[in-house]
Amino acid sequence: MDLNGPTLPPRTVAQSQSEMTELILPNDTNTLHNLLGGRLMNFIDLVGAMAAYRHARSHVVTASMEHIDFIAPVHVGDLLILKSSLNRAFRTSMEVGVKVWVENTLIGTHHHVASAYLTFVAVDTQGRRVPVPPLQTETDEEKRRFEDAGRRREAREVEARRRHIPKFEPASPVKR
Ligand SMILES: CC(C)(COP(=O)(O)OP(=O)(O)OC[C@H]1O[C@@H](n2cnc3c(N)ncnc32)[C@H](O)[C@@H]1OP(=O)(O)O)[C@@H](O)C(=O)NCCC(=O)NCCS
Repeated sequence: MDLNGPTLPPRTVAQSQSEMTELILPNDTNTLHNLLGGRLMNFIDLVGAMAAYRHARSHVVTASMEHIDFIAPVHVGDLLILKSSLNRAFRTSMEVGVKVWVENTLIGTHHHVASAYLTFVAVDTQGRRVPVPPLQTETDEEKRRFEDAGRRREAREVEARRRHIPKFEPASPVKR
């Protein structure tokens, strides 16, 4: 398949923005009754995938999750609010930003507890990569995120070349 086309109609950021709310229960927590980091990453992956699905209107797989900042602990009984938004669409991949807050259910205030950037790749039912629609930015904030996502992609590519990351190469034989 031609991964550069056919040209798909652009979609706005607002068309794929997603939100998820979770009540933190004891099963999600560690011995200090705080939310497990891995469970939070699971929620971040899910809400990020929702935005990617809505933008691509196809299956998506998580290619990477990076720059996760765990800013403050989340406690059992907290109401977690997660919001995801497309930062940029490339050829078959999309960078999604996720921001997480805890809502104080008694007074209705929110405080920021985590942020992350994820890259999803659109695939068909056979797992073959498919092109995604271009992203149409509207606000100054969306335009800034779009530019920042381009810079992060360049930095990732430089780093991958520097580290010579071998992709899907057969494992070397085990030495005895
Ligand atoms: C993600 C995946 C589809 C990429 O396939 P690939 O054959 O390596 O493809 P390429 O290297 O040509 O990259 C394809 C696109 O993904 C992007 N990409 C690949 N690896 C990436 C990474 N680690 N981080 C960010 N983007 C990445 C490339 O930039 C490219 O984007 P573009 O088409 O928009 O230009 C493949 O590595 C895969 O299937 N991984 C497993 C996914 C999965 O199972 N996720 C759940 C984890 S449990």
